[in-house]
Amino acid sequence: MAPARALALVLLAVAWMLVVAAASSPAPATTGWQTAHATFYGGVDASGTMGGACGYGNLYSQGYGTRTAALSTALFNDGASCGQCYKIACDRKRANPMFCKPGVTVMVTATNFCPPNYELPSDKGGWCNPPRAHFDMAQPAWEKIGVYSGGIIPVMYKRVPCMKRGGVRFTINGHDYFNLVLVANVAAAGSIKSMDVNTSNSNNWIPMARNWGANWHSLAYLTGQMLSFRVTDTDGQTLEFTNVVPQGWKFGQTFTTKLQFK
Ligand SMILES: *[C@@H]1O[C@H](CO)[C@@H](O)[C@H](O)[C@H]1NC(C)=O
Repeated sequence: MAPARALALVLLAVAWMLVVAAASSPAPATTGWQTAHATFYGGVDASGTMGGACGYGNLYSQGYGTRTAALSTALFNDGASCGQCYKIACDRKRANPMFCKPGVTVMVTATNFCPPNYELPSDKGGWCNPPRAHFDMAQPAWEKIGVYSGGIIPVMYKRVPCMKRGGVRFTINGHDYFNLVLVANVAAAGSIKSMDVNTSNSNNWIPMARNWGANWHSLAYLTGQMLSFRVTDTDGQTLEFTNVVPQGWKFGQTFTTKLQFK
């Protein structure tokens, strides 16, 4: 075989191996930066960010503080992203450098939804319109990476594991035959994929459904019974919170557990 031809064959083989390697190792969802834009809301003390479409309520007392963001439709995923954590930096390549704080990142938790505004063009006010990836961040979080007068900045972001103190918390709202359970303070994935409830009477796992944000509902009669929850996070880890709610529970109560996702 002519040396040139042999070399061509070797190169072809190497190229093919690279293609196979690339195809068989998809990047995990939590690596790699993606691009988006970011604005801010809620005031300097973030008081205007309380509540929010994930249903965490008072973000100070729930431990989310002022490092929070409202996600555009493309990122919010009908509430499935509630509780996820993102590392965000001003994108100096795409930004007017005047409005970027260099070399800093900020970590935020998704606690709210930034609704589309179809009255406005996507590049002029309708920032959260699909299919745009946009973070409307609590002002103190945004000001870590952006300069106030900039108003809107191009950012790079990536999903990162959430760090939490203590265990997962369950708050029971609703009424008899309509139990609305808020799952808060979730570490690692931060977001919940599915959830079941078991009672002393049913002695079986009853599937719950996402009602809104981080609130899951069951239509079963749970009143007056000790409850256990089985929760699977978005990354596929399942934890069983056995008998975390005592028999005498009342609507509006929060139950703190010692279990946490890793
Ligand atoms: C449901 O809860 C009861 C009471 O705590 C317990 O005895 C039972 O083993 C649980 N059932 C399942 C399927 O986990």
